[in-house]
Amino acid sequence: MKFHIITIFPEAFENFLSTSIIWKAREKWLVSVELYKLNEFAKDSSGHVDDKAFGMHWQVLSVIPLSRAIESIFESAWKIPVIYMTPSWKTLTQETVEQLSDDMSECIIICWHYEWIDQRIIDVFVDHEVSIGEYVLTGWELSSQVLMDSIIRLIPWVLWNASSHQEESFSRKLDRQKEYPIYTRPQEFRGHKVPDILISGDHKKIEKWKHDNLR
Ligand code: ADE
Repeated sequence: MKFHIITIFPEAFENFLSTSIIWKAREKWLVSVELYKLNEFAKDSSGHVDDKAFGMHWQVLSVIPLSRAIESIFESAWKIPVIYMTPSWKTLTQETVEQLSDDMSECIIICWHYEWIDQRIIDVFVDHEVSIGEYVLTGWELSSQVLMDSIIRLIPWVLWNASSHQEESFSRKLDRQKEYPIYTRPQEFRGHKVPDILISGDHKKIEKWKHDNLR
């Protein structure tokens, strides 16, 4: 999977890309990420990428720098899906993540700050609008990292084996329900005991217990 990220703050991805599972997935060449600094596509040497919105008093992301950035990526990856992170769309679910991860091998994610971009970017270029919840963030770098993480962990061999995410909260295997409780040693902690069935060794009963205890 290849992600092309357009942002004015590429440095906001440093920790995310160099930590834990995401770092390992990149090391194994299962994932690659290209960062594009939006200011380099500005109309002039000032590097400004925003403009005053018609009929409003505030600045929004202007259409020219962003369209230039997208089209420069299209030169080597023609018409790959373009994703726009926005609070004003349907909230991301595990089902949507699975669909995106099945349908795409490469995509562009637009990261901006504040809430607004020129509508024509959406009309002309955007294939998927994705919200991570009904609240507004200042930096879309955060929401795009949530989306990337949820997609990356579904890529075969990113986790310790290809099927380790099949039985987890919201998975098809668990009927999109939340996972059952998990216990480790000691068998009793502050008066709370591990359920007897889990230490019975009876796999049939354990499977039934898991099913009956989905949250
Ligand atoms: N950008 C700002 N807020 C967001 C949200 N809740 N989801 C996705 N992108 C966003």
